Amino acid sequence: MTAEYKVDGAIAVITLNNPPVNGLGLSTRRAIVEGLDQANADPAVKAIVITGAGKAFSGGADINEFGKDEAHREPHLVSLINTLDQQSKPVVAAIHTVCMGGGLELALGCHYRVAAPGTQVALPEVKLGLLPGAGGTQRLPRVLGVETALNMIVSGETVKSEVLASIPGQKLFDKMAASAETLLAEAKGFALEVADKRPLPRVRDLPCKHPQGDAYFQFARNMVKGMAKNYPAPARCVDTVENAARKKFDEGMALERDAFMQLMWTPESRSLRHLFMAERAASKIADVPSDTPVREIQTVGVIGAGTMGGGISMNFLNAGIPVTILETRQEALDRGVATIRKNYEAQVKKGKLTQEKYEQRMALLTTTLSYDALKNADLIIEAVFEELGVKEAVFKQLDEIARPGAILASNTSTLDVDKIAAFTRRPQDVVGMHFFSPANVMKLLEVVRGKETAKDVLATVMKLAKKIKKTAVVSGVCDGFIGNRMIEQYSRQAGFLLDEGATPAQVDKAIEKFGFAMGPFRMGDLAGNDIGWAIRKRRAVERADMKYSKTADKLCELGRYGQKTGAGWYDYQPGKRDAIPSEQVNQMIEAHRKELGIAPRKISDEEIVQRLVFALVNEGAHILEDGIAGKSGDIDMVYLTGYGFPIWRGGPMHYAGEVGLFNVVQAMKRFAANPNDDAQFWQPAPLLARLAAEGRQFS
Ligand code: NAI
Repeated sequence: MTAEYKVDGAIAVITLNNPPVNGLGLSTRRAIVEGLDQANADPAVKAIVITGAGKAFSGGADINEFGKDEAHREPHLVSLINTLDQQSKPVVAAIHTVCMGGGLELALGCHYRVAAPGTQVALPEVKLGLLPGAGGTQRLPRVLGVETALNMIVSGETVKSEVLASIPGQKLFDKMAASAETLLAEAKGFALEVADKRPLPRVRDLPCKHPQGDAYFQFARNMVKGMAKNYPAPARCVDTVENAARKKFDEGMALERDAFMQLMWTPESRSLRHLFMAERAASKIADVPSDTPVREIQTVGVIGAGTMGGGISMNFLNAGIPVTILETRQEALDRGVATIRKNYEAQVKKGKLTQEKYEQRMALLTTTLSYDALKNADLIIEAVFEELGVKEAVFKQLDEIARPGAILASNTSTLDVDKIAAFTRRPQDVVGMHFFSPANVMKLLEVVRGKETAKDVLATVMKLAKKIKKTAVVSGVCDGFIGNRMIEQYSRQAGFLLDEGATPAQVDKAIEKFGFAMGPFRMGDLAGNDIGWAIRKRRAVERADMKYSKTADKLCELGRYGQKTGAGWYDYQPGKRDAIPSEQVNQMIEAHRKELGIAPRKISDEEIVQRLVFALVNEGAHILEDGIAGKSGDIDMVYLTGYGFPIWRGGPMHYAGEVGLFNVVQAMKRFAANPNDDAQFWQPAPLLARLAAEGRQFS
C-alpha cells in the first residue's frame, strides 16, 4: 500500500508511503482518496491528518510515471486536490523534510498546514521546463503573496519552512511544530482544536493581489526575459501567477492547465526532462548491480601537480578527503600548490568560500617527492605528461608501492587504459578517471572501464564521483573515449567548412547561435591549438587514411597556438580575451583553398550547424554500436556537462530525435555528395540507419 490509514481517537491519519520521497504516483493518489472515503464514512472521525512516512512529506510527481499514461489517469493530481478542497471534515497536512512540487500543491489543497522546521519547500517544475500544473501557481500566491510565490515558481529554488513561516502575513503554515519528531502529535492536536470550526478555510477562497499590479508584472516579465531567453517556461510562470492576481480562481486554474500542457510539448521541456532522467540513469551500469560493495576511499594520492593534477586535488579537498600530491621536482610541487592557493583565494575574495574553510581545505593537502608517501592511499590518480612511456614508469612504481586493493586511476585523455593497466600486476584495480579542464570546475567525469576493471572499482568510482559533485559517465576504451572521439569529427567538419568558404568567426557564430557555449575555433584558442596538433601528428601515423583540413596545422606552424601566445584563430590584445577576426588567418585559409583548387562558396548557418552537430550524432551512433557508451543518454550527459552543448536541446542524441532521425540521415546523404567533405564518414552508422528506417529514436 502506498498510503496507510489509521484512526487515533477522533483523528484519521493518512500516511503516504511510497519510498524514497512519497511520489504521488497513481497508486498513492488512489490510496489517499480511499483514506478520505474511509474517514468520511466513520462518524467517530472528526478531522483528518495527511503526512508522509520516512524522509519526506512528498517530493511531488512520481518520476517513474514520467511520460507514461499513469500520470494522467484519474484520480489525477488536480482531481485529488479538488477532492481535498471539498472535504466536509477538516484536513490538516503535517509537513516535514521535503515538500515539493505536487507535494506542496497537495498540501495547499488541505484546509490547514502544520510544518516541521527544516522542511525543504519548493515548486521546482520550472527546472523541467514546466510550471506547477496542479494549482501551485494559483494557490501559492494566495498564501505567500505574489512576489514571494512568483520568485519560488520562476526559480524553482528550495526555501526552508522556517524562512517562509517568518514572512509577515503568510498563510502557508498555520502552525510550526517544534520539531520533526513532535510534528505528528502536534498536527493531531491542532486537528482536534479545529475539528468543529466552520466554515473550513480553503486557499482558493483567499484574495490574491499585487499593489503595483501592471508595473510589477511588467518588471517580472523583463527580469525573466533576460535570465531565461532560451526557455519558455519562466515567462509562462509569470503569466499564470498574473492570472492568479487578476482572474477568478477556476479560470486561473484552467489557464494554468493549458499553459502546463503546452509546455509539456515544448522541445525545451522534453530536453530538460530527458536530462533529468539521463543524469539519474548515467550512474547505473547495466552489469554492475546497485548493491555492488564499494571500496572505502579515505585518502587520495595524485601524481603530477600540473594543470589537471591541481584541479583534481581540489575536488577531493573540497569534499574533505585528504590528498597527497607527488611530483618529480620540488619546484613543480610549489607551483602546483601555489595555483591551488590562488584558486581558493579568488573564491574567498568573491565571498564564495570562507577563510576558515579555505584553511581547512589546505590543511588536508600534503606534498611529496617520494612514492613511499602514497603507500597507504586508497585511490591514486595519475595526471602526468600524456606519453605512454611516462605513464608506464608511473604505473610500474605504483604497482610496487600501492597497498593491495588501492584503486589506480589514470587521467589520460587519449591513451589506451588497457595498456596502462597491463603495466601493473593488478589490472582489475586500474580505471580511467578522465576529468575535464578546469578539473575543479567542470562537472563531467568520464570513467573509463578497462577490459579488466573490477566491478567494485567501477561502483566505487561512480559513488565517489557523486561525493565530489561530478556527473560520471562510463566509457569503454577507445581513442578519445566518448567525448573526444566525437569532438574529433566535429572539429574535422569545422576544418572542412573553412576549406569550402567559411571563416572561423562565421562558424563560431553559427554554432554559438545554436546555443553552444563556444564555437570550435574560440574553443581551440582557449584550450591551445597545439594540443590537437600533437594528437594529429601522432594519429597521422596510426590513422593515415583519415582526411583532415590542413588549416589547423598551418595555424600552428605560424606559432598561433591560441590565447596563450596572444594569437590563434583570432587575434588577441594583451590581457584581453576578446576574439578579434584575424587578417593573417583569413589569408592563410584563402591561400590554402587555392592550393586545394576549391572555389569558395557561401555556406549557410544552417549547413554549418547541421554538419557540426550531425557529425557528433553519427559518431555517437558508432560509439553506441561499439558498446563504448552504454546508452544514448550517457552520450548526451557527456556533451551537456563537458562540451557546452545547449542544455535546452538535450544533448546531440536527443536533439537528433527532435529533428527526426529520418531528416538527419537525409542531410547526411547531402553532405556525403560534397566532394570536399568526407563521403565515407557520412555513411550513416548502421544503428542510425536502422532506427531512422524504423521511425525510432536513440532513447
Ligand atoms: P601538465 O603538463 O600541466 O602537468 C603534468 C605534470 O606532471 C607536470 O607538473 C609534471 O612535472 C608532472 N610529471 C611529469 N612526469 C611525472 C612523473 N613521472 N612523476 C610525477 N610527476 C610527473 O599536464 P596536464 O595538462 O595536467 O595533463 C596531465 C594529464 O591529464 C595528461 O594525461 C593529459 O592528457 C590529461 N588531461 C589533460 C587535460 C587538459 O585539458 N590539460 C584534460 C583532460 C586530461
